[in-house]
Amino acid sequence: MSHLIAPSILSADFANMQAECEMINRSEADWFHVDVMDGMFVPNITFGMPVIKAFKKHAQKPFDVHLMIEKPERYISDFKQAGADILTVHYEASTHLHRTVQNIHSEGMKAGVALNPHTNIQLLDDIIADLDLVLIMSVNPGFGGQKFIENSYRKIAELKNLIIQRNSKALIEVDGGVNSDNAPKLVEAGADVLVAGSFIFKSQNPEETISRLKNF
Ligand code: DX5
Ligand code: ZN
Repeated sequence: MSHLIAPSILSADFANMQAECEMINRSEADWFHVDVMDGMFVPNITFGMPVIKAFKKHAQKPFDVHLMIEKPERYISDFKQAGADILTVHYEASTHLHRTVQNIHSEGMKAGVALNPHTNIQLLDDIIADLDLVLIMSVNPGFGGQKFIENSYRKIAELKNLIIQRNSKALIEVDGGVNSDNAPKLVEAGADVLVAGSFIFKSQNPEETISRLKNF
């Protein structure tokens, strides 16, 4: 499988979301990456269900919803109704993670778990077989446009080993500071899905930038 590209709409122009969604529809992107922040788990607030529902009206590709919120288990069916296809919660934010993952599946969504830069891969040992996706944060969550953390390559390789060892089908997604310099190295290390926000939306031609991230 060739790697997937998930533009993070956090860096898009919120005043022109219809045009931004249509650009992603036209492009070689595979998913929409949708960042939800609550001002508690991370020091920033983005948007919630009504806004996701509005984006969804214009979007023709799966919604990869990244919840940076405390106790995400409170809102699983709400995010399903808002249009999430893949729902990712943070390891650090959900005490009963196994139950949360089961509930995401019973709502008919793919389930992902995200790890902060300081969280060890081996903590997933007992849940990896149940996951569809693991999101490795390659910056501290909360903001777009931060610098990529180099230790992420080592984490991707370690996660790849764990996935093989436990016979898991989980995809490895990398989020934060992704650009055309590090993208080939990330895929080589084992990444299946690349999220990119500012690198795409702050570029001259976002559609072409998506194509550059997809084809190398
Ligand atoms: C950060 C978010 C990311 C963010 C990435 O907490 O999870 O998805 O939009 O933005 P860039 O690609 O600019 O680092
Ligand atoms: Zn994200």
